[in-house]
Amino acid sequence: MIPTLEWLPEGVSFLDQTKLPHEETYVLATDYIQVATVIRDMITRGAMAIGVSGAMGVALGIQNSTAATIPALDAEVETICTHLAETRPTAVNLFWGIGQIRDLYNQIKHTKSIPEIKQAVVARARQMYDEDIANCKQMGQHGASLMPQKGTVLTHCNAGALAACGYGSALGVIRAAVERGHEIDVFADETRPYLQGARLTAWELMKDNIPTTVLCDNMSAHLMKGGRIQAVIVGADRIAANGDTANKIGTYGVSILAKEHGIPFYVAAPWATIDVNTPHGDLIPIEQRNPREVTHSNGIQMTPTGVSIQNPAFDVTPARYIAAIITERGILRAPYTESIAAMSR
Ligand code: MRU
Repeated sequence: MIPTLEWLPEGVSFLDQTKLPHEETYVLATDYIQVATVIRDMITRGAMAIGVSGAMGVALGIQNSTAATIPALDAEVETICTHLAETRPTAVNLFWGIGQIRDLYNQIKHTKSIPEIKQAVVARARQMYDEDIANCKQMGQHGASLMPQKGTVLTHCNAGALAACGYGSALGVIRAAVERGHEIDVFADETRPYLQGARLTAWELMKDNIPTTVLCDNMSAHLMKGGRIQAVIVGADRIAANGDTANKIGTYGVSILAKEHGIPFYVAAPWATIDVNTPHGDLIPIEQRNPREVTHSNGIQMTPTGVSIQNPAFDVTPARYIAAIITERGILRAPYTESIAAMSR
């Protein structure tokens, strides 16, 4: 199992994903401000990983608090949650993770002592880590049969163990299919500008000996036309109530190409990624990141000084391009508004 993040007695340890694939090093966050920096700077990244990191950040903040009264702790919890929530706007899992610990705190703050509250929030954050792995394995069980028995599956970005607490969503489905004996080759889009596919997906699949080929982001149309891709599977950062899905920039284009070539396009995500309070994809906030991610590669400037840059980190794939959404509860099919409501509990 790849140790993406881990609760330790002295803080939360994160595999530094900015250094992969060259260096496997860890960053220890000993307070919630450091956890927020780890999320903002993408030392850890991927919707499920930042959801659990957000929860651990709140738990760490509460654990470290020296507040002696509940009103004083209330004020601190508010500051902690706000600070962590300001790190990245698109993946709804972050707000879900923070909310899980805040809700627990509010439920128990009048019935338990402060030491008991600290113990309970830490236990819940650690439990969310275990649940994330269990959810990914469950998604794998539901989704494996959708993968070709023998063929090539394209993925975009990294929706693997590194984007979660282990196993992964889209790559978890691929792992489960391989465990069942499917003969799958993976095409990993490099995923400019941050190269999650080239650096991270390729790294973790190679560790598992799953045959992997990296493509530049502009190659899949050609390969689809030549019959070289049998399915596409990606993760999600936020799924609106109607099934519109935000994922890494470039996913939308891949979905259109898949439709044009009659290739099924699947999304795998835990239920926590479904945001029923966002009716459709146009309302999903899209993170804009530093232009330097586009202008520079490995510290070397690739573009003329002063040129204008766009760097939206995510785009939205309309529900009509999605053949199925694989969750730990089961497989959702269109019309998603109805299937999501039916599977809600
Ligand atoms: O900017 P990132 O690397 O956090 O973006 C990650 C993605 O877009 C993943 O595909 C997504 O989070 C789904 S995997 C949990």
